[in-house]
Amino acid sequence: MSQDAELFIQQLLAQMTLQEKIGQLHQVSPGGDFDLNLLRTGQVGSLFNADGALTGQGFSKSSSAEQINHLQQQALSARLHIPLIFGRDVIHGFRTIFPIPLAQAASFNPELAEQAAAATAREASATGIRWTFAPMLDIARDPRWGRVAEGNGEDPYLGAQMAAALVRGYQGDDLSAPDRIVACAKHYVGYGTAEGGRDYEGGEVSEPTLRDVYLPPFQAAVQAGVGTLMSAFIDLNGIPATANHHLLTEILRGEWGFDGFVVSDWESIKELIAHGVAEDEAHAARLALHAGVDMDMVSAVYHRTLADSLAKGLLPIEEVDQAVLRILRIKQRAGLFDQPFTDPQREKQDLLRPEARQLAREFARQSIVLLKNQANLLPLQGIRRLLVTGPFLRARAELFGTWTPDGRGEDVTPLDEGLRQHTPRTTELWFADSTDMALHMAHHSDAILLLLGEHPVRSGENGNVSDLRLPPGQSEFLAALAELGKPIVLVIFAGRPLALEKEIPLANAVLYTWHPGIEGAAALAEILFGEAAPSGRLPITFPRRTGQVPIYYNHKNSGRPVGSSDLFITRYSDLLPRPLFPFGYGLTYTQFSYNDLRLSSSTLRKQLQVQCTLTNCGTRPGSEVVQLYLHDRVGSLTRPVRELKGFQRVTLQPGESQIVTFTLTEEQLAFTRSDGSHGAEPGWFDVWVAPDSSSGLHAEFRYEG
Ligand code: GLC
Repeated sequence: MSQDAELFIQQLLAQMTLQEKIGQLHQVSPGGDFDLNLLRTGQVGSLFNADGALTGQGFSKSSSAEQINHLQQQALSARLHIPLIFGRDVIHGFRTIFPIPLAQAASFNPELAEQAAAATAREASATGIRWTFAPMLDIARDPRWGRVAEGNGEDPYLGAQMAAALVRGYQGDDLSAPDRIVACAKHYVGYGTAEGGRDYEGGEVSEPTLRDVYLPPFQAAVQAGVGTLMSAFIDLNGIPATANHHLLTEILRGEWGFDGFVVSDWESIKELIAHGVAEDEAHAARLALHAGVDMDMVSAVYHRTLADSLAKGLLPIEEVDQAVLRILRIKQRAGLFDQPFTDPQREKQDLLRPEARQLAREFARQSIVLLKNQANLLPLQGIRRLLVTGPFLRARAELFGTWTPDGRGEDVTPLDEGLRQHTPRTTELWFADSTDMALHMAHHSDAILLLLGEHPVRSGENGNVSDLRLPPGQSEFLAALAELGKPIVLVIFAGRPLALEKEIPLANAVLYTWHPGIEGAAALAEILFGEAAPSGRLPITFPRRTGQVPIYYNHKNSGRPVGSSDLFITRYSDLLPRPLFPFGYGLTYTQFSYNDLRLSSSTLRKQLQVQCTLTNCGTRPGSEVVQLYLHDRVGSLTRPVRELKGFQRVTLQPGESQIVTFTLTEEQLAFTRSDGSHGAEPGWFDVWVAPDSSSGLHAEFRYEG
């Protein structure tokens, strides 16, 4: 930040009264009885409108530039004319809703995510929103947790790539540009370790695992210049993240040099009392402020108690001052002092732009994962009568997924309509809304398109499930249709991996479409009929059954690894030991071969090149996500059996080959040791170039240190 800008906020701080300072730390979600005088006296630093869209379910009245300008005017009428920053959960789109973040991660295309975030920033900022509570960067290994939908899956490398791309997209190179918004890396940190996948439960994780699995996406966000972070609800290792000085100050600021501000999650400061680490609100406020939480999201405990705690000498004013400076710094960077108002004309031209819809369709295309395609049933060809049925047949807003408070169902092309628009004239669509009608019509159909899955209400905050099977009745419906011997294309809409061990064998082809967003219907239709080819890969492991969870690819080998000859290697006596589908898995409409794996050296000193020849040996164009995995055979700590260290999306025409090259660096061999040190250790390493985390071409090299 320039010296002038820093001087400006220091001089502003010097003029502020204690009430005005505490006001900056106070974020309010104004209900009907909101007292505007709080704005006129500088007692509020930020507003956000969350009513109606709590925990990501449902919709709430969108803000408008006019409303926000009016509220901003009230705040600027205060003595020091400090602007408000308006926040909102703009998680994967504003009016143009993109696929859920887990689906976006399935594209393995950070560049696309960056473009989508930029389009989202343009829309949200047009209504006066200049701060989004996104990206959500929680690594998730338990799909029972509703919030897996909001994140980028189980892998720290993919998560870090997506984190940096999303921050760049939201914030751009100049955060003061009126069409950019401040990003918020959340929920810092370890929220995905909630026991049993039950939201708000505590989690335990070792420091090495915290640093090597859960922190990397947040560090990537900070390195990308993220303006804010949000502290998590979770009690992590006995210290709630919102009161965790080690996380919020020692690591975030001491090690990473983060100079933006931290906002608590919804009332998470006040919840320190329920956690049992604070006796009362004043104690909770002091713990959070000291830990490094600068702004209090709606609990108002900073507002109510900090002045009294200061008067009693229970905390130093310097902690208040540094929090105020951080908030002023981000407001300054966002250009709010120079441009506190939004041009109301923008709403007419910046929402639902055609190019944004096209981007949403492309993103949905690249997020859809082909899990099975027996006898190349897909893309559908020569089907005279296609029966389309299932609970998602008439889906509209259900395609959005969780956390879409500003989405509108009427903006969506319903699934049945989207299919009609993209089905070849030679194929007649028959729609059946009931199971008995579907069974009757199936007899006269050439193939069945069955649209199953879970409603977004099972996703998002506290959208946890104890059973990963399809909702009741759906599996039975599939089984009944399968009895009829017609080819079945099964399409699954979901915000998480579902346990489909019984369903996959009953279908001839399976597409996993997640919750694909506003253009999901068209994207699905294009893939079904071959206008586009599927290219998504799984960003999270798919278990066979709920009881297999947690299961993830970058696990430790154990002393009795699955696959060895010993009798004692089963993990369950009643289940195969491997997942249904591994991390990184996905099919295309063509086939790719991997040949000629070469290393630039058999020894890595600072770096080495890994290359392989990829060939499209099928008859259709296709995109492959070529993945680079590493395994450290011997370490001072046990090491994961595989770790993703690179990926490249490669599109090839039939018969075309391309040499794909990765550079593996010494830093990528490093890990956090039990003494907290971080580094690579000499020894032998395995390396794969692969289509997924369970296969690929293998080589080995030695690191000499
Ligand atoms: C919620 C969520 C958080 C969201 C915030 C504001 O409880 O945990 O992700 O940004 O509150 O709605």
